[in-house]
Amino acid sequence: MKERVTAAYSARAEEYAAVLGSMDAVHPDDRALVDAWAAGRRGLLVDAGCGPGHWTAHLARNGHRVIGIDAVLEFVEHARRTHTASVDFRDGSLDALPLADGSVGGVLAWYSVIHHEPSRVGVPLDEFRRVLAPGGGLLLGFFEGPAVEAFDHAVVTAYRWPVVSLAARLDEAGFDVVDVHTRTAPEHRPHGAISAVRR
Ligand SMILES: C[S@@+](CC[C@H](N)C(=O)[O-])C[C@H]1O[C@@H](n2cnc3c(N)ncnc32)[C@H](O)[C@@H]1O
Repeated sequence: MKERVTAAYSARAEEYAAVLGSMDAVHPDDRALVDAWAAGRRGLLVDAGCGPGHWTAHLARNGHRVIGIDAVLEFVEHARRTHTASVDFRDGSLDALPLADGSVGGVLAWYSVIHHEPSRVGVPLDEFRRVLAPGGGLLLGFFEGPAVEAFDHAVVTAYRWPVVSLAARLDEAGFDVVDVHTRTAPEHRPHGAISAVRR
């Protein structure tokens, strides 16, 4: 499945970056949420599944120490070309992050676990827990919906999650949910965000 996801993004990375790869494309409420979340973290932040790297660069501009990680080489190369050389972008999988245990203060996973089959979503959640220091924070952005179900995302199959279902997976993975946000708007898929801390 991971290979299918990375191949699909590889084929459309430049198109994705052109449409969605800038902070101008980000909803102001999401920017405010991520900024407030990041301001409350200590130590290294990881933008896990960073895509074109706009969140990583934004967090770096705000003074955070941050690494962007993605499995799609075209995204990593785009991010390195586009953003200042001082921002650290790495090739890596969410399922086996190239980071030491307990070495991270915050993981931003903004729409990056949406393609994991529900039976496998625990794999990246366990990885996030492994790399976070106790008390470290995780912020997940995702497509919200009334049931866990697959849908035809523009790039490759994705899954929508009810908040309660994803919150239960976070609990299983060793996180306490701190905060939940949802948003609906005409012609947009319902959005969800969950902030959680590593127990
Ligand atoms: C919908 S995009 C979101 C990108 C970025 N976070 C944003 O907000 O625009 C999903 C991203 O997750 C990455 N991704 C999905 N599964 C991954 C995996 N197993 N390992 C690493 N990256 C993954 C994709 O390559 C893609 O960049």
